[in-house]
Amino acid sequence: MKVVATRRLPGPAWDELDDVELLPAEGLAEPRPDVEALVVANETVGERELALLPGLRLVANYGVGYDRIDVAALGRRRVALTNTPRVLDAATADLAFALILAARRRVVAGDRLVRAGGWEHGWSSAGDLSADVSGATLGIIGLGRIGSAVARRARGFDMRVLYTKRRRLETEDGVEWRELDDLLRESDIVTVHAPRTPETEGMIDARRLALLADGATFVNTARGELVAERALVRELVSGRIDAGLDVFANEPHVPPELLDLPNVVLTPHLGSATVTARHAMTRLVVDNLLAASAGRDLVTPVGRG
Ligand code: DGY
Repeated sequence: MKVVATRRLPGPAWDELDDVELLPAEGLAEPRPDVEALVVANETVGERELALLPGLRLVANYGVGYDRIDVAALGRRRVALTNTPRVLDAATADLAFALILAARRRVVAGDRLVRAGGWEHGWSSAGDLSADVSGATLGIIGLGRIGSAVARRARGFDMRVLYTKRRRLETEDGVEWRELDDLLRESDIVTVHAPRTPETEGMIDARRLALLADGATFVNTARGELVAERALVRELVSGRIDAGLDVFANEPHVPPELLDLPNVVLTPHLGSATVTARHAMTRLVVDNLLAASAGRDLVTPVGRG
């Protein structure tokens, strides 16, 4: 099976594929009727790309989110799609918690102060006090696999956990359902774990951001497009809330106003970026390619993941 990929993937599984062709950075420029499988990391795959790849049978996405891939267009051409669910849940939940802790306890601002030689007066009894993580109310937007992994971590911090989800759980084990507006009003810390879909894009708009309590912490490791980014920037510039942001609306562009703010921790889309998670993601991509090539069932087809 002729495979092309937008990048080489990390980990030993990748070497099990012979003869993968890497696409140039500018992507597909001309028709490639020979290509049967395309490996992407949520790069755009739409009508244009599909028209250039008339022999395509499989798009194997390196990542769980596939919001830049036109699933309907793939369906019309009977091209299968796979992603890499489950293996990155723990890593992404860990990063969400790292951002919660870092933003809430001003870890990065403190680090900057020390490095800049600004820690002049020794231990301070009343300066630089931050808000608590332990015992706080955590609002989880999207209680899927990653959101649930965050909820499990929150138990260790004695947090009260509120959640929103398309369908309310039948059994709520230590979590309380709220409408999105109420969750935003009642939470000390809000963390986003919903996929980007036409329904979720822009759902945390300016009106909803204004519902956050003064001093609340907003964390996003899902997709920047779920939030009205300009409105978020305004809230952060005003200093009313804190944030930990791993994702942005127009990556790798980060709104320049955020760069000097002490109340924001910024990371470059690192959710799944551990050796274990990324190698396991490669394993799934390769297993799906090998299955397609041998005519076996796909391992993680989208829709049954
Ligand atoms: C994912 O797996 O969706 C990550 O955000 C990388 O796109």
